[in-house]
Amino acid sequence: MTSPAAARRRVRAPRLARSPQAPNAPNAPKIAARRSASPLSAPGPITVADFESLARARMERAAFDYYAGGADDELTLEANARAFDELWLRPRVLVDVSEPDTSVTLFGDQLSTPILLAPAALHRLAHPEGERAVARAAARAGTVMVVSTIATYSLEEVAAASQGPRWFQLYLYRDRGVSAAMVHRAEAAGYRALVLTVDTPRLGTRRRDRRNAFQLPDHVRLANFDEATLPSTNFSGSSQERTLTGSARILLNDALTWRDVEWLRRLTRMPVLVKGILTAEDAKLALEHGAHGIVVSNHGGRQLDGAMPTVRALPEVVEAAAGRIPVLLDGGVRRGTDVLRSLALGAAAVLVGRPYLWGLAADGEAGVSRVLEILRDELTAAMVLSGRPTIASVDRTLIAGPDRAR
Ligand code: FNR
Repeated sequence: MTSPAAARRRVRAPRLARSPQAPNAPNAPKIAARRSASPLSAPGPITVADFESLARARMERAAFDYYAGGADDELTLEANARAFDELWLRPRVLVDVSEPDTSVTLFGDQLSTPILLAPAALHRLAHPEGERAVARAAARAGTVMVVSTIATYSLEEVAAASQGPRWFQLYLYRDRGVSAAMVHRAEAAGYRALVLTVDTPRLGTRRRDRRNAFQLPDHVRLANFDEATLPSTNFSGSSQERTLTGSARILLNDALTWRDVEWLRRLTRMPVLVKGILTAEDAKLALEHGAHGIVVSNHGGRQLDGAMPTVRALPEVVEAAAGRIPVLLDGGVRRGTDVLRSLALGAAAVLVGRPYLWGLAADGEAGVSRVLEILRDELTAAMVLSGRPTIASVDRTLIAGPDRAR
């Protein structure tokens, strides 16, 4: 992945905002020659990194930085991706790989790929169709979209946009009534699981947002909240209040404990996954308190800077979970081989955040679909080339070195 410093240097290059031409994309000369062509026309972007370049060229600087940035010095943001590069693979040969199968089953739903869409706020910063476009692309790819609480279409509007399986991401707020109401709405709208994010007692310090004085643009509202709950972020606030930090201050609860997880479990019939776990200690507590799944996550490097990269945290969490509940991972997954490494270390599935946001910015629903296709094709290729034709056959012996099971 491009380092944040390199990314910032490239942002200064001249660009044509909101045009399909990406001057800094690898295929820029060819695209420039066909001005009317879709940004996805052949040869088009062929990697997630290409989509990042396209998104950078098409988005307002402050919006791009809001998506791309991490906390503080962005050490964890960078390390998430780099940690994958440090895990070498031990491919096997002369295995029949003529019919590779990427399908997995999670909470009773068969998915055609183990690559899910992580909850991410504010999709309308990237495209007017926002979360609705993402929901349609996820359904077409046969995978799960996890819809963020901080969505710019309401959870009901996203549900109406597609028939695909959706999970709902939740924060437990100071006012339990606000969270409970959302859980009931998600249940009524057919969401299949809840993902409780637990790494956000307050928002991490996002220096890019402070430098850019990032605010919610006028057309973007937090659609899951009404004016009474969140007056300052839905239209009426002063410009200073139209920041995410403003809404976070009103809503986020820094006094949560495991008892609150039990409260949530009792409140709903949906399975509850706990997102934001990085240690064996917390994985054990998650089991004790009845979580149905764990997402190993550091919020894409947006919360505690210096927190360990997720693929490094994964083995201890998997060991602590002892096969009793599924362990998922997100953070820095940019290639099929990153998915393969995560599965080899025991993840039941992975989630991607920024990759599909780049697709959304590049070309709406079609862009998200293409990103998911690229990742799935890369995963299939990696499975074939490593002699692992099914997800079940991807095991720890695929990883060389100290992280390999003895
Ligand atoms: C996020 N993430 C996030 N997580 C969450 O639980 N609720 C949310 O509203 C958001 N919002 C959000 C916005 C943006 C712009 C990003 C990039 C991320 C974190 C997200 O679910 C996931 O943990 C990371 O994005 C995974 O890392 P990668 O794939 O982006 O490297």
